[in-house]
Amino acid sequence: MKKWYAVLGDPVSHSKSPAMHEAWFEENGLDASYVPVHVPEGTVGEAVQALKTLGASGWNVTVPHKQAIIPYLDEIDPLAEQMQAVNTVSLLPGGRLRGSNTDGPGFVGSLEQAAGTGLKEKKVLIIGAGGASSGIALALSQAGYRSVSVCNRTVKKAEAVAARTGGEALSLQEAERRLGEFGIVIQTTPVGMSTGSSGLPLGLQNLSPGAVAADIVYSPLETEFLKAAAATGCKTVDGLGMFVFQGALAFERWTGILPDTQKMKDRLMNEMG
Ligand code: ATR
Repeated sequence: MKKWYAVLGDPVSHSKSPAMHEAWFEENGLDASYVPVHVPEGTVGEAVQALKTLGASGWNVTVPHKQAIIPYLDEIDPLAEQMQAVNTVSLLPGGRLRGSNTDGPGFVGSLEQAAGTGLKEKKVLIIGAGGASSGIALALSQAGYRSVSVCNRTVKKAEAVAARTGGEALSLQEAERRLGEFGIVIQTTPVGMSTGSSGLPLGLQNLSPGAVAADIVYSPLETEFLKAAAATGCKTVDGLGMFVFQGALAFERWTGILPDTQKMKDRLMNEMG
């Protein structure tokens, strides 16, 4: 029987995941398809039941179900457990459902592909302290990054994330003043997103020109943050790589094959103009 996969979310019609995974299935000679499934908030349990009945081999989970799906799974990876968020579900032999989270590891893969080696010794600052920030902070720590600090508008939330990495928690003002200390600065707030508020979460005048600046927002590809960082001479990493890598790691869990991320990034970049 032809295998099939899905992404569950609300909204989901805009998702680039179906086209991305179908291209990878074709590239790797696999006879499988991937469909978007619109699942309103509060109905993810019914959706899981339906997908099981209809024989899906795995699926991605996006907003607003990453936490809500957990009770419907049989097992969960340690990273997803720590984050209380699942973005990938795999059907194991025997019919058990396993949840994992490839968002944070996807960010790390994308950073390393775009910015090279020798990154682990650099001091990292993450701007923002929501779900994306905490996944990235944990994944960086697990990948061996030595020092991961967090700054946020609400400092208490930065403290909660930094407690997981052993790094410092800073206010946005402190971070702005001390920005030159950091070799990697990662923007995880919705500031700069085409649907969010414009501008910068903090001023970049003290950014070190040798730093790497990464944004997880990819619509638009060139955020104000990345433009301002590039203007100071920094190396920049856009958010599209994280999206592609989280998908690639999900694909690997389902098929055992790590697909070509660079080719996919180039293709999506062309499509986005
Ligand atoms: P996600 O789960 O996608 O990371 P989230 O949990 O809503 O999203 O987190 C958004 C983060 O962006 C939060 O850290 C938020 O700061 P607060 O904790 O103070 O709310 C931050 N954020 C949102 N809008 C912001 C703004 N205009 N300026 C600075 N930080 C902002």
